[in-house]
Amino acid sequence: MPLVEGLKLAPSILAADFARLGDQVRDAEQAGADWIHIDIMDGHFVPPITMGPLAVEAVRRSCGLLLDVHLMIEQPEQQFGALKDAGADLLCIHTEATRHVHRLLKSIKALGLRAGLALNPATHETALAEVLHLTDMVLVMTIDPGWGGQQLLPSTRPKLRRVRQLIDACGRPVELEVDGGVSEGTVAAMRADGASVVVAGTAVFNSREPVAAAVERLRGAL
Ligand code: DX5
Ligand code: ZN
Repeated sequence: MPLVEGLKLAPSILAADFARLGDQVRDAEQAGADWIHIDIMDGHFVPPITMGPLAVEAVRRSCGLLLDVHLMIEQPEQQFGALKDAGADLLCIHTEATRHVHRLLKSIKALGLRAGLALNPATHETALAEVLHLTDMVLVMTIDPGWGGQQLLPSTRPKLRRVRQLIDACGRPVELEVDGGVSEGTVAAMRADGASVVVAGTAVFNSREPVAAAVERLRGAL
């Protein structure tokens, strides 16, 4: 169930309690989450190492939501098959992680999965120009990737608005996802700037409140 008309919620399990991962994902589903966002990091593209296909498979067994897999890894193509087998629905690669964005987006589509392209804060949206027709989603990073719990970078907001214009002009349904610093205090601005999916890690999974209460607070801020 969207947070509000036209705005989906994708809780990021990066902030979840991994000792209770299945429960946390089920709580998010019951609270009305639309997708589950899974952050894969390899210690190279970004410093931390997080999870891989085994975690995707565990989340797949725990809920029926679309699994949105954010690949913060080098040579992401080496994982496409395993991630598909694990139950991923959408694979989002970073334009900065490969010299072969066009070929990799085509490979994701050839597997029958949805393809996403992520842009780091320093990457201009011209990176989309030649490949937007191959994407089902653009992910505008509103923090530098690698860690949850950071503050949204205000400098990314004009880019988000420009990407919204590019998507509207392309004449295809392409989701526009924002990731990083989404909270009660920022979610309305992200919506106003044109996001159609908000990722939320620490705003949904934290020790202060149950998942349902956290989701209601985000909804309330809209
Ligand atoms: C960080 C990840 C995010 C992270 C966001 O690189 O891509 O998905 O979980 O965390 P919050 O919502 O706490 O900023
Ligand atoms: Zn992410």
